Amino acid sequence: MLARTAVRALANSRQFSSSAARQTKVAVLGAGGGIGQPLSLLLKNDPLVTSLSLYDIRGAPGVAADVSHIDTPSEVHGYAADKLDEALEGVKVVVIPAGVPRKPGMTRDDLFNTNASIVRDLAAAVGRVAPEAHILVISNPVNSTVPIVSAVLEKLGVYDPRRVFGVTTLDVVRAARFLGGIAGADPADTRVTVIGGHSGATIVPLLSQTEKGKGITGEVYDQLVHRIQFGGDEVVKAKDGAGSATLSMAYAGATFTHALLRGLSGEKGVITPTFVKSPLYEDQGIDFFSSNVELGPNGVEKIHPIGEISAQEEKLLAACLPDLKKNIEKGKAFVAQS
Ligand SMILES: NC(=O)c1ccc[n+]([C@@H]2O[C@H](COP(=O)([O-])OP(=O)(O)OC[C@H]3O[C@@H](n4cnc5c(N)ncnc54)[C@H](O)[C@@H]3O)[C@@H](O)[C@H]2O)c1
Repeated sequence: MLARTAVRALANSRQFSSSAARQTKVAVLGAGGGIGQPLSLLLKNDPLVTSLSLYDIRGAPGVAADVSHIDTPSEVHGYAADKLDEALEGVKVVVIPAGVPRKPGMTRDDLFNTNASIVRDLAAAVGRVAPEAHILVISNPVNSTVPIVSAVLEKLGVYDPRRVFGVTTLDVVRAARFLGGIAGADPADTRVTVIGGHSGATIVPLLSQTEKGKGITGEVYDQLVHRIQFGGDEVVKAKDGAGSATLSMAYAGATFTHALLRGLSGEKGVITPTFVKSPLYEDQGIDFFSSNVELGPNGVEKIHPIGEISAQEEKLLAACLPDLKKNIEKGKAFVAQS
């Protein structure tokens, strides 16, 4: 899928980069990890990134030294555990893959106890040092960590909901790939809008809105939806205790970061699903939701409605909402008690 979309995106970004290339410093917090390392590599290759700031409690200077030899113009700096504030100085975009990944048998919610405090503390540092930065949260459980980041920034009085994103791109990538496999088509032609949240039943693919997906029914439909919702488990199982998706996640993280940078640079029509503060289900007490979002110079420019969906998708959504609500409330309660 990247092939065609990336070439187009790259051509567009070149067009826009002269005005936007000014100074776009991007930080990766958790850069020494399974996701952080390949994500840093891909961001070094992004023409819209002029400076890369790599931070981790372990190993970031080494990753930075390595990545810095790649022959693209951006600068790379690595920061050790005690240099978080320095790492964040002047950054425009902060990507956070810091935290522990799943082991077989674990849900994303099982990571809450460890990752909630890691994300809370990193968000507080961003709020203090780079309050205008856009924050892209990869650390799981995303359904809770995004509300955590938002609540921390709110406490600090620097929260702008247009600048906080949960990265759900991997669900979109998997949906395109799996549907492409079934339809015998190039995944570039089987892009699927995925709404809701980022774990199990909260992941709702809108196959009825795609040309190749709308005719799929019965068992094939059920299996496809299940695979999109639980595809992460395939990787966790295959890695057998060594973690969860890292390479496909780095790809997804770099793809979303690039989309945001295109929007920030003034390009119009950059639309992708992402988990943000959203009015769509606010009346049901669910104030964060993933749907198609147009990205622009201030981050979230426009939140698109979900559009027409099938009866089956209505059912998926009905199963998503209560879980999502609980995950969001858990994140908020954590910050309120901190
Ligand atoms: N959003 C998604 O679609 C998605 C997909 C896959 C994984 N994830 C999540 O991403 C996170 C990272 O996964 P991974 O496989 O890279 O794990 P990993 O253990 O390989 O790497 C995590 C890194 O975070 C670092 N770290 C821990 N505490 C830190 C802190 N306070 N400050 C800075 N760095 C810190 C660790 O030193 C480590 O290098 C996990 O929470 C995982 O569940 C999200």
